[in-house]
Order: sequence, then C-alpha cells, then structure tokens
Amino acid sequence: MKQLLFSIAFFHSLIFIVSIDPPYGPLKIQGKLLTDINGTAVTLRGMSLMGSNYHPQFWNEETIRQLKCSWNINIIRAPITPKSKCCGGWFADPSQPINNPWEWKSTRDREFGRLKQVIDASVKYGIYVIIDWHIFDFGNNTLEQGREFFANVSQTWGNL
Ligand SMILES: *[C@@H]1O[C@H](CO)[C@@H](O)[C@H](O)[C@H]1NC(C)=O
Ligand SMILES: *[C@@H]1O[C@H](CO)[C@@H](O)[C@H](O)[C@H]1NC(C)=O
Ligand SMILES: *[C@@H]1O[C@H](CO)[C@@H](O)[C@H](O)[C@H]1NC(C)=O
Repeated sequence: MKQLLFSIAFFHSLIFIVSIDPPYGPLKIQGKLLTDINGTAVTLRGMSLMGSNYHPQFWNEETIRQLKCSWNINIIRAPITPKSKCCGGWFADPSQPINNPWEWKSTRDREFGRLKQVIDASVKYGIYVIIDWHIFDFGNNTLEQGREFFANVSQTWGNL
C-alpha cells in the first residue's frame, strides 16, 4: 500500500513538474509530445460537454469557470450535432415540421450561440477548446455539411 501511495504521489509530482499552465500559445506535435509554441511539453486535462442540443444548461460561462477554477481543467470539448432524434441540430431541416423527430427544424443559430458562450468563456479563462463536429450514424450527414460547419467556425474563431 505504501508503495502504491508513493507511486501515485510520484506520478502526480511528475505530471506537476512537466506540465505548466496555459497560455501555451499554438500547440505543436514534436515526436511523441504535445508542446507549446516553444517546444516545451504540455499536459492537457479536461472533459467533454454533452451535445449543445441535448444538455444546453452546461454551455455557459459558469460551467467553464467552475471546471477551470475548481477542477483545474485546461481544455474542454464542445460537441455540436448536425441532426438529432430529439432536439434539433445545426443541419436539421428548417422546412420540416418540428414534431417529426428525424426532420427537426434547424437550431443552427441556437447551437452557434451556445458554442460562442463556451468559446468566449474558454478564452476568458485561458483554456483550449476542441470544437467537435459530432456526427451520429443517423440523419444522413454529409461531408459537405462538415465542410460548411468548419468553414463557419474557422472564419468565426480561426484568428484566436
Ligand atoms: C516562448 O518563448 C518566448 C521567448 O523566450 C517567451 O517570451 C514566451 O513567453 C514563451 N512562450 C511560452 C508559452 O512559454
Ligand atoms: C455562422 O453561423 C451562425 C449561425 O447561423 C451565423 O450567425 C454566422 O453569421 C455564421 N458565420 C459565418 C462566418 O458564416
Ligand atoms: C436518409 O436518406 C434516405 C435516402 O434519401 C431517406 O430515405 C432517409 O429517410 C434519410 N434518413 C434520414 C434520417 O434523414
């Protein structure tokens, strides 16, 4: 048991020594390492939000502040869904009635607003964001839709 505790403590201090806090600048891959702009190895730690159309109550500054300040994360994943069975999506069909689960009205503006809140808060608290185009095996998602989504987000946030 003592040995185990020691290993855990050692492991933690090792992580503590090699990892530094953001801002790291633009990240790079060097050999097996993820590094900051100057080639110093960094450790990213965090979690994923649930899709913005499923659990929107967490897509806000308060969640990011809590995760950063209490959980000490430095990265968050933000999954945006093209189409869902229940709750709309970036590319759900706006011409279809809202009660047909496969053809829910597009909630693109709404999901964009939620993504913006998470990105703005992440910038404010100095953490990274993985913008995740969260495709499921339903809804006939296309490569074109993915391109259009990333064209939007890269034009909107590519300068960060
Ligand atoms: C990278 O190096 C420059 C020059 O030494 C320094 O000003 C900057 O703070 C460093 N950036 C990071 C993320 O360590
Ligand atoms: C991205 O999509 C949002 C939501 O529909 C829209 O308001 C915004 O103008 C779009 N931005 C670009 C650069 O296409
Ligand atoms: C996917 O496309 C096929 C063929 O166009 C269509 O029959 C089907 O209803 C579509 N499914 C969804 C979920 O949109």
